[in-house]
Amino acid sequence: MANDTLRGASRANVSNHADNIAAIPLVDLQAAHAEVAAEIRAGLDSVMASAAFIKSQVTEAFEHEYAAFTGVAHCVGVANGTDAVELALRAAEVPVGAEVIMPANTFVATAEAVVRAGARPAFADVDPDHLLLDPRALEAAVSEETQVVLPVHLFGQLAPMAATTAVAGRRGAIVVEDAAQAHGATQDGRPPGSFGLLAGVSFYPGKNLGAYGDAGAVLTESAEFARRVRLLGDHGAERRYEHLTIGFNSRLDAVQAVVLSAKLRRLAHGNQARRLAAARYAELLADVPGITLPSAAPGNEHVWHLYAIRVPHRDEVLRRLQDERIGAGIHYPVPVHLQPAFRYLGYGKGDFPVAEAAAKELLSLPLYPQITEEQQVRVASAIRRVLG
Ligand SMILES: Cc1ncc(COP(=O)(O)O)c(C=O)c1O
Repeated sequence: MANDTLRGASRANVSNHADNIAAIPLVDLQAAHAEVAAEIRAGLDSVMASAAFIKSQVTEAFEHEYAAFTGVAHCVGVANGTDAVELALRAAEVPVGAEVIMPANTFVATAEAVVRAGARPAFADVDPDHLLLDPRALEAAVSEETQVVLPVHLFGQLAPMAATTAVAGRRGAIVVEDAAQAHGATQDGRPPGSFGLLAGVSFYPGKNLGAYGDAGAVLTESAEFARRVRLLGDHGAERRYEHLTIGFNSRLDAVQAVVLSAKLRRLAHGNQARRLAAARYAELLADVPGITLPSAAPGNEHVWHLYAIRVPHRDEVLRRLQDERIGAGIHYPVPVHLQPAFRYLGYGKGDFPVAEAAAKELLSLPLYPQITEEQQVRVASAIRRVLG
C-alpha cells in the first residue's frame, strides 16, 4: 500500500500555502505509537538482552495471542502479508498453473502472491455496494480450470463468504482468504480463516494492527496446514539442518512480535474507535450531493481499515483536500487486471465495469482510532466546499 500519506512521510504532495493549518494525515502512526511507546521499549529491551531475534518465545506468544483474539485455532507468523497469501496457497498444494479467481479491485499483492505460488490469477468483478467479490460475477467466472477462489476482505469487512464458498464448493475449488485488511472483522460472528482453508494477514505499519516494518501471518483451523506454512517459511525444515522441502525465509521476528503484542492489546478498542469515526463521517457527509458513502454488508462486523467514499471529480476533490493539508488516498487507482504487469493474462478495459468505475471515484479519507471530531469536521467541510 502506498505510504506517502502516512504521517511522518514526505509532504511533497501538500501545497505550501496552507502551512499554517495542522495537517490531518490519512493514518496517524505517531499517535498510535505514543499510546504504546513505553511498553514497546520495555519489550525491545528484553529482546535485545536475550538476543533471541528469530524463532523466539516472543513470536510464539504473539502467535497464540492473535489466534486467541481472532478465535481461529492456528496463527503462524511470516515476513509480510504477500508471503502470507503465497504460503497459504503453497500449503494448500495449489498445483502449478492452477486458476485462482480473485476480485479485480484489490491491492496488487493478492495477484503477485498467486503468481509467486506458481498459479494463474483470474478476476471477477465486485459488487457495486461494497466493492467486495460479487458471488454472481464469481459464478460467471468459474470454469473447469478454477481450483481456488481467493476473496479479499477489503477495507475492513469480509467478502460474502457463504455465497463465495457455495460457488467454490459446487466447482470443487478450495477457498483461501486474503485477510490483509480485516484485523478483528467478522461475518455472522466468524473470523477470516474460519471460512477458507487458510487466510493471509498483513501487519504492514498502516494496517489496523501494524508492525514497525513488514510482518504477516497465516490463520487456519488446520494443524496440518499450520505445520506446512511453518515448514515452508523456515527453509523447509522442522529440525535444524533437516530440509524436507525447498522452502523460503519468511518468519515473523521477535522485534515485530513485541510491537504487535503491545498493539494487539489495544486493537479491539482501536477498532471500536474506528467504528465511531466511520459513523461520524456518515453523519457529517450524509447529504453531500453526488457522494456515495461506504457501509457494512449484512452480517459483517466492519473494522474500517479504510473509509473509502466514492465521489465525482475525484482527482479534483483529492487536490483540494491536499491543498488544505488533509491526507487522502486512493485504494486503488488502477484495477489489477489493467496493471501492465498483468497484461499477459489478456484482460482489457471494460472486462470488470464495477471495479473500473470505482477506481475512478474512490477516495479514502483520514481514519484512525485517535482522529478527533474536529479533524473529521474539517475533512467533511472541505469535501462539502468542493461538491456541495
Ligand atoms: C488486500 C491486500 N493483500 C495483500 C497485502 C500484502 O501485504 P504486505 O504489504 O504485508 O505484503 C496487502 C497489504 O498491503 C493488502 O492490502
